[in-house]
Amino acid sequence: MSAGLKRKDPNQEVHEFDPNTNRKLRNWFVREKRDLPFRKNRTPYSTWVSEIMLQQTRVAAMLPLYEKFMNRFPNPVDLAAAEEEEVFRYWQGLGYYSRAKNLLAGVRKLVNEFDGEFPKTLDETLSLPGIGPYTARAILSISYNLPFAVLDGNAKRVLSRLVMFRESGPKADSTLQKIADSFLNQDFPGDHNEAVMELGARICIPKPLCTQCPLQTDCIAYQNGVQESIPETEKKKKEIPLNIRFYVLKGKQGILLIRYPERRFFKTIYSLPFSFEGQNPYEPDPVLHWDLSASDLGIKFKHTITHHKIQGFVSEIQLDTKVEKEILENFRKIRPSIETKYCEWKDLETEFPSSIARKIKQAFSKQEVILPGLEAKTSSSKRKSK
Ligand code: ADE
Repeated sequence: MSAGLKRKDPNQEVHEFDPNTNRKLRNWFVREKRDLPFRKNRTPYSTWVSEIMLQQTRVAAMLPLYEKFMNRFPNPVDLAAAEEEEVFRYWQGLGYYSRAKNLLAGVRKLVNEFDGEFPKTLDETLSLPGIGPYTARAILSISYNLPFAVLDGNAKRVLSRLVMFRESGPKADSTLQKIADSFLNQDFPGDHNEAVMELGARICIPKPLCTQCPLQTDCIAYQNGVQESIPETEKKKKEIPLNIRFYVLKGKQGILLIRYPERRFFKTIYSLPFSFEGQNPYEPDPVLHWDLSASDLGIKFKHTITHHKIQGFVSEIQLDTKVEKEILENFRKIRPSIETKYCEWKDLETEFPSSIARKIKQAFSKQEVILPGLEAKTSSSKRKSK
């Protein structure tokens, strides 16, 4: 019988946990917690940055970027004063640039409307752009030790198993939040939240390492031998294969980059213009309907964006002044929101901050083609296509 949960009907809204369960969890965390740079300085700002970076990015991948980011923008005032483009450059490698855009908007609001002083209530915290219930609760508990329980993917798995709660998905979340609230260690809310997430990241993983778990004897799913089937796995989104062609448009001032929020990918950052080719479920983008002959550079690369499995191709076009003007006019007519700028080839990865830019450059360097900012080389591998 469970030691951890006294009332174990998961549909009942109140769950009473044995304080011993909390004690064991905290002892485990104090003993075993990873020595992570973002755990050294717990200002609301540093927690905010680290928690946003940790969304959709693993700890090992975010750490070097977190340190560089905090060195360059050590406090909200420094970040609020920065240009979006520079912030994006420091976000390179993390992807999902809307997170950086929202973080910047949130920090600017904090500086302008809260005098830089991070609020202490959930409602005020939630009024900051880019801060949802998870981030608000994480910041308030970790940096101010306020009693808010967090619920991220790892916490959901831990709690669902602990009380043998089988449901998952958005409808289950409000029940799980109540379970999380009643499990919260009121004396150490910050440590408690991090302990739950850490347990979910290292021990209570999808194929759990129950023999190493400090809560093994408290876990009802374990007692019933059903831990691996909890929570129910949500159906994976079907993979969509996509062929995408990127265009290196070489104008007088360099390579043309564009950005507009209506497109499917790279809504917030500048990119090379691109179009979908062949069969795909999406509407063709009228921005890219031009009648120009582009040279296919004969290179291919693979890339994944969420559930899209992308095969990338690259074409280049040397634009004369008249054609360039027509293209820009056409872009603006179709998409008044479009923004354009130019970059040199050597700056492509910083100006188009996606690993796609790196892949294209790597492929180019093997191909020996002529581009602005590069030494002229033979272009034997070029072939005309479209
Ligand atoms: N996952 C997201 N934030 C975390 C934190 N602060 N500690 C452990 N795991 C986390």
